[in-house]
Amino acid sequence: MSASGGSQGSAPATDNQKSSTLRLDDKEHTLPVYQGSIGPDVIDITRLYGDTGYFTFDPGFTSTASCESKLTYIDGDEGLLLHRGYPIEELADNGNFLETCHLLLYGELPNAAQFEDFKQRVTMHTMVHEQMHRFFTGFRRDAHPMAIMVGVVGALSAFYHDSTDITDPVQCDIASIRMIAKMPTIAAMAFKYSIGQPFTYPRNDLDYASNFLHMCFSVPCEKYEPDPVLAAAMDNIFILHADHEQNASTSTVRLAGSSGANPFACISAGIACLWGPAHGGANEAALQMLEEIGSVDNIPEYVKKAKDKDDPFRLMGFGHRVYKNYDPRAVIMQKNCHEVLEAVGADKDPALPVAMALEKIALEDEYFVERKLYPNIDFYSGITLRALGFPTSMFTVLFALARTVGWIAQWKEMIEDPDQRIGRPRQLYTGPAKRPYVKMEDRK
Ligand code: ACO
Repeated sequence: MSASGGSQGSAPATDNQKSSTLRLDDKEHTLPVYQGSIGPDVIDITRLYGDTGYFTFDPGFTSTASCESKLTYIDGDEGLLLHRGYPIEELADNGNFLETCHLLLYGELPNAAQFEDFKQRVTMHTMVHEQMHRFFTGFRRDAHPMAIMVGVVGALSAFYHDSTDITDPVQCDIASIRMIAKMPTIAAMAFKYSIGQPFTYPRNDLDYASNFLHMCFSVPCEKYEPDPVLAAAMDNIFILHADHEQNASTSTVRLAGSSGANPFACISAGIACLWGPAHGGANEAALQMLEEIGSVDNIPEYVKKAKDKDDPFRLMGFGHRVYKNYDPRAVIMQKNCHEVLEAVGADKDPALPVAMALEKIALEDEYFVERKLYPNIDFYSGITLRALGFPTSMFTVLFALARTVGWIAQWKEMIEDPDQRIGRPRQLYTGPAKRPYVKMEDRK
């Protein structure tokens, strides 16, 4: 297949006057090429099957742009992450999480009045329906908080019928605000339930991150004031996880939403996907790995295991489908990690020297260099979250909380697209061809 000049078709993005030619069975087919504002051009194959009878084959979507989006851009080779054009480092250094939420949802950073209005709207939705408390008690006492999240977030659609009509933009906006506002409350309730403590109601005089720490760590019998250093770190962690383009959970949300499912159900599907160890579960796995390694002396043995093709062990928190350079979020997370550990006096955490030495050794090792395997955000986030006081079972819950805004913004972008259709991939079928039914007595 070749790409050449020449204007083609109606492009969803900027038409860059290019097309490509595909030669199949001695026939040439012209395929339009579209150009985004940055990033690789895309070849439009939507008419390929109709025109040629061929499907494309791309399991794992390594070469497929599944949608057009204006939200987030990643350059994996450069280690660049932009939200609506703003580098993640600048958002994390200068702004707060609610600003990033506004940016992702509405396209621009809010001015002072818009920020106050947005903050007020989110804050007024922080409580959950009182009946939801009973929903929690239906779970086994030792239920994993992610299992609770999948169930409770999906169940929001049973409590908030008045914001499930996806054809009504006002209802969609209310559902969005509700999820951003209630996710910390639900996450904190899942945590409290798992440790047998009473639920703590939100405090609307606190900022988003401080309120979350309050709901997680205060108890009715004692006074609690969130530490501003820890609240700032928490807020920073939320910003770093807010959105990440078309990853597995976001694609799950989009696919679920493409059928017209309500937003609460779609976000619940995203949470289920995020739970997997190759995705959101990696920070938990990374911390467990650091604990298992135990000391700097044992690192060479684990690096050897990670390189051994016959051993399924991988260095958790290393490698990324898109980043073939440092994950820019990992750099900020490493800084965050040192600050939190110092603030809580946990700078003696034995996992930290192991992490730092492992990072250094792996970055110099030919195997990791050749494959462009760098630390990802999860490498340091586990140590940081533990220092903040969270058990490992809560790590993915915190990721889900922060990613909710990204999922919603992506979902909204999709349903607002007038050309949106249900997502329906095809397959390369390699099972048996058509054959007649064999009666049981005739089967071998
Ligand atoms: N340790 C050792 N080897 C690795 C690792 C690792 N962490 N990651 C990739 N490799 C090797 C693979 O064995 C493969 O080697 P080969 O070419 O000799 O066969 C090569 O690097 C490419 O690996 P793939 O699995 O093809 O890469 P892919 O893009 O599919 O996987 C993934 C990306 C899933 C993140 C992978 O790097 C991994 O499993 N990392 C550990 C889990 C992790 O940290 N996940 C967090 C992702 S970030 C997030 O969700 C926020």
